[in-house]
Formats: sequence, C-alpha cells, structure tokens
Amino acid sequence: MNINVIISPCGVEELYFTNKSIVVIDVLRASNTIINALQNGAKEIIPVAAVEFAVKVSGGMFGGQTLLGGERNTKKIEGFALGNSPLEYSKEIVEGKTIVFYTTNGTQAITKAKFSEFLTICSFANLTAVANELIKKGNDFEILCAGRNNTLSLEDLICAGSLINEISKSKDDLNLTDSAKASVILNNSMGKDIHKMLAETDHAELLIENGFEDDITFCSKLNSSDIVPLFIDNALKLPKEEN
Ligand code: MLT
Repeated sequence: MNINVIISPCGVEELYFTNKSIVVIDVLRASNTIINALQNGAKEIIPVAAVEFAVKVSGGMFGGQTLLGGERNTKKIEGFALGNSPLEYSKEIVEGKTIVFYTTNGTQAITKAKFSEFLTICSFANLTAVANELIKKGNDFEILCAGRNNTLSLEDLICAGSLINEISKSKDDLNLTDSAKASVILNNSMGKDIHKMLAETDHAELLIENGFEDDITFCSKLNSSDIVPLFIDNALKLPKEEN
C-alpha cells in the first residue's frame, strides 16, 4: 500500500486528485466541525471554496432546512447562522439540516480534491474509523493536509502520522513517501499528548486569542467518533447504513 502526505493544498492542481483516494485533515477545526455535525444528525455538508458561493448555493435551496456555517479569520461570517466551532453544531441545531460550509483552509482543501474517486475527512476524533476504512479498501491513498495560509500545520501533519501508525498496526506492506515518513516521525516525537501538542501550535494561539480555547480541548479527543464522512455528489455525508 503506497501512502503519500501532501503537506498543503498550495501548489497541487485539482486534476492531480482525479481517481485517487484522498483523506483530508484539518484538525483545527474544519475536520472536527464536519465530523461533529454529521455525528449530530446533519443531513449533509456542502463544502464551498468562496463565501459568495456559499450564499448563492444556500439561496437556491429550500428555506428552513439549510444553514450557512463557517469562518473567516476564525470568526463567524456576517449573515451566517453558525461559525466554525464544532461545539456549535449540536443535535438541536443541525439534525436533518444541509449545511453550506466555508472555511479559510479546510473547505479549500476539500473542494480542491473534489475529483477524487474516494474522499473522506479525518481528525483525531475518527482516526481509527478512517484507518479501518482504508485498511478495508486496501488501495493506495494520499493524505491532504489543509495546512494554514498555504503552508503546513503541525497538527495536520501529526494527525497524518498518527493515521499511518494506526494502519501500520494491521498492515506491514506500507510504502511511505518522504513526507509520509516525516509525518510518522513527527507523530512519534510530538503526538503522545494531543492536547498539549495542539495547544502549542500557531493556529491554537489564534484560536485562544479569539476565545475558542474550548475547541482545542474538543479537537484533541481521540476516537470519540466512529463515523467516516464520504464526499458524494458535492456533499459530505454518511454512508446510508450510518444515517
Ligand atoms: C480552516 O479551515 O482554516 C480552519 O478550520 C479555521 C478555523 O479554525 O476556524
């Protein structure tokens, strides 16, 4: 099984992803928001790459069942119902809803990979579930780290290394690229205390500055969910039997 890690979507063309199996990781916070929304019964999440497009997409949908969610510079966007704090996406608010979702880095990465044959979302929260799905599929895959401002994010790379380590427990034929090996080395040296590692990242500093300290604790939970979101027909959703 060949595994590559792309440290940031910057510089990779959309067509690169055609027919590939891709795992997008944006630990702080888009992956966790998506996982929590689907866990709490959201019907689907439509990731978009521009705020204007989010408004347009939601405007064309039937009223009442659609919510606009996401952030700019970590904060809720004017006119949006929800920000990008996973804690906002409670069952009471999202159950049965379609969420049109824009974030600075996470949804850029997801939409860039839209031509993938298989596209899922991972964070520490659903790490083992995603690892099991990839082991079941058995084919080569690439991990696309959302990063931040066109460069790498430590937390995404460490989560990628953790996912590879989890898969290596059941598979001994892994062939890793240099970036995949680097993610494993980073995870082995810094990934043992996830909360401590997250709290020391650049992104966490910004989140704390803006009052989102609780999100760091939420995003540091390991295997709190067993869902594997799938990107199907331009939306992230759960496979039928998990709905
Ligand atoms: C992003 O997609 O850039 C992040 O999820 C930003 C955030 O923490 O809100």
